[in-house]
Amino acid sequence: MAEARESRTQKLKGAYVLVIGGSSGLGFAVALAALDQGAHITVASSQKVKVDRALARLREASPNHPTTIQGFVCDLSQPSELEGNLAALFEAATSTAKLDHIVLTAGDAVPIKPIADTSVPEMLAAAHVRCLGALVIGKIAPKYINAGPKSSITFTGGVMSHRPMLNWTLQAAWGSAVEGATRGLSVDLAPIRVNCVSPGAIETELFDNVPPAARGAVLDGYRDWSLLGALGAPDEAAESYVYLMRNSFVTGTTSLVDGGRSVK
Ligand SMILES: NC(=O)c1ccc[n+]([C@@H]2O[C@H](COP(=O)([O-])OP(=O)(O)OC[C@H]3O[C@@H](n4cnc5c(N)ncnc54)[C@H](OP(=O)(O)O)[C@@H]3O)[C@@H](O)[C@H]2O)c1
Ligand SMILES: *[C@@H]1O[C@H](CO)[C@@H](O)[C@H](O)[C@H]1NC(C)=O
Repeated sequence: MAEARESRTQKLKGAYVLVIGGSSGLGFAVALAALDQGAHITVASSQKVKVDRALARLREASPNHPTTIQGFVCDLSQPSELEGNLAALFEAATSTAKLDHIVLTAGDAVPIKPIADTSVPEMLAAAHVRCLGALVIGKIAPKYINAGPKSSITFTGGVMSHRPMLNWTLQAAWGSAVEGATRGLSVDLAPIRVNCVSPGAIETELFDNVPPAARGAVLDGYRDWSLLGALGAPDEAAESYVYLMRNSFVTGTTSLVDGGRSVK
């Protein structure tokens, strides 16, 4: 009985979780939630200072943690280096054990402006981190992740793909591509599970890019944009990733965590 209960309540205990984009925002919240549930954590992103800061925050949050907390630099922005950089990250992350779960929350700044003013190189560049990143993870991850339905890969889209806002076509387009890649890879990689989380407006460091004078109005705009009149907290978004990691019967799906934006 006790053992059965432990296997139900502690599914991430001792699991090896890699969060690409784990140095900030949604990914950091996922790393923290998985750490709280007893997982070994590897975080990665493009800037060493951000990786180091995230590691310090994770260690501080869990000083006597018995599992590994490690981090590596990995830049997903250059298509020519994407496969090499991800392979090097996977090699480093699996030096002691294969992975159980991979989460991709990495995302760089995408221009938010009328499509009429957007160049073709800008359109393509907006796909590199989020979308090509997801495809290349799908290509090479099977070598580094335990086979079977307990293992999972979770990507990140956005509710903008379902209910776009003016000037957000690039995000809408590539976010939909991530959701499509999720369905395709879930078939190609089965029984490893592949899912996607598509958030609404979540109050992360992403909003630090908004000039301070405009911040209040922008955040209020996103509160109105949701059905619940609120922004999501990073730990609320993290719940969706954790659910997709834990539930070994869910694959090929997109989970919205959007305060009801999709039905407003
Ligand atoms: N927050 C929201 O409201 C929301 C809603 C819908 C969708 N999303 C999407 O969810 C993702 C995460 O958002 P967030 O709010 O967590 O943003 P965030 O706090 O800015 O985190 C983004 C993460 O991606 C990493 N990253 C950026 N460029 C990278 C690159 N070239 N290679 C590798 N890693 C890179 C960043 O670290 P480095 O700078 O060190 O690389 C950071 O760890 C983004 O794709 C975002 O568009 C967010
Ligand atoms: C869309 O972009 C135009 C031109 O930059 C700007 O004037 C307008 O305010 C933007 N709309 C929204 C909703 O961001």
